[in-house]
Amino acid sequence: MRSYVTKMAGVTTLPPREERERALDQAGYNVFNLDSDDVFVDLLTDSGTGTMSDSQWAAMLEGDEAYAGSSSFDRLQAAVQDVMGFEQIVPTHQGRGAENVLYGTLVSEGDHVLNNTHFDTTRAHVAANGGVAVDCPVDSAESADDGDSFEGNFSVERARAHVDDVGADAVPVVVLTITNNSNAGQPVSIENTRAVREFADEIDAAFVIDACRFAENAYFVREREDGYADASIQEIVREQLEFADAVVMSGKKDGITNIGGFAAMRDPDLFEHCKQRAILYEGFPTYGGMAGRDLAALAVGLREAVELPYLEHRIGQVRELADLLREAEVPIASPVGGHAVYVDAGAFFPEIPAREFPGQALVCELYREGGVRAVELGSFAFPDTERPEFVRLALPRRTYHREHIEHIAETVEAVYERRDEVAGYEVVEEPPIEELRHFSARLEPVAE
Ligand code: F0G
Repeated sequence: MRSYVTKMAGVTTLPPREERERALDQAGYNVFNLDSDDVFVDLLTDSGTGTMSDSQWAAMLEGDEAYAGSSSFDRLQAAVQDVMGFEQIVPTHQGRGAENVLYGTLVSEGDHVLNNTHFDTTRAHVAANGGVAVDCPVDSAESADDGDSFEGNFSVERARAHVDDVGADAVPVVVLTITNNSNAGQPVSIENTRAVREFADEIDAAFVIDACRFAENAYFVREREDGYADASIQEIVREQLEFADAVVMSGKKDGITNIGGFAAMRDPDLFEHCKQRAILYEGFPTYGGMAGRDLAALAVGLREAVELPYLEHRIGQVRELADLLREAEVPIASPVGGHAVYVDAGAFFPEIPAREFPGQALVCELYREGGVRAVELGSFAFPDTERPEFVRLALPRRTYHREHIEHIAETVEAVYERRDEVAGYEVVEEPPIEELRHFSARLEPVAE
């Protein structure tokens, strides 16, 4: 069993209820507008918010800030090679930088990109290059109910039907997102990864893995897929990523850093093209938008992410929260994924219609009740799409303790007990791009 001791203390305070009320009102009932000082437990994201280890901090002190040929880059390259099996890497400032570098090179006007489920920034990069992002989730991925144990899988059947419609020439890239963040952080099996590889070969497309949470995914494979119970996380990671032609990675997730990312690819020509694009948007290819110290921290973080005791602690904590919520009979997406618990706000507030954003109502109540900041991923964040009304409680890595987990569960439970008194919301101020409205729109409670 592994636990973590605190070597550096950070303070978090729960502001009094009246201050929380005022802060929420001033934020226009949008928690992205809150000051983090007003937040007690921050579950907005697991991205860049984790706690680095003492080894990572030690590596940072040795960061080589040379513009070209930095030894910290060599360290990162060696870690990516050992852990993920890719020799050629292009470092970027974070995951979306890697998406820009890779998809900007692979996707052209009118192309279709197939993915188990596109994460928002992936969808936006496909669109920015004139492409069409097509989701191909497996059926059980469409509901918040129990289903297979690999609900994050890619539906080859659905993808094939799409290719029959648009022709194989229109599909230059197939992407597999592990774990599937937009679908409640559900994992993808090795068997499915193999099937997607075969499908990509069949239509002569490049096969990219969005590997942001590759280590968490491997933990599920070890636990659930036949034949992997005795394999190490490292072996599983290598086996799964071996199928891909390229990966995009955000160091802010399973790299356990506060910033950084990279794209990695096998084809030397693609590598050259990506490096050129990276010079334009990110930086010289041996730093690519990161400080040398951040490259060094990421090199260490990648190796820590594949340690089994780390993952047992990490995913164990997510499950601890899920168990407490289940005990309180709060409706959550089940089975629980790797980085977050997703509350089904549609079932939580059956009286609030989708147009009044039940998820956003829950997000506001969690802050009001316990200073807990979560994120809505339902009809407020994704206008005009049919999605479950999820609220994501994402746990930062190695950051919170049992007392926080209990506080979160008590907060959700307290709101659940008074769920009949909670009203929905309406948008009163919207930014020009509707798809990005959840970051900055202002809302008001719907008048009774
Ligand atoms: N791909 C996936 C699957 C992601 O979850 C994210 C980020 C990205 C790409 C982009 O990486 O943020 O480093 O630019 N997800 C964060 C989240 C923002 O909260 O889920 P980035």
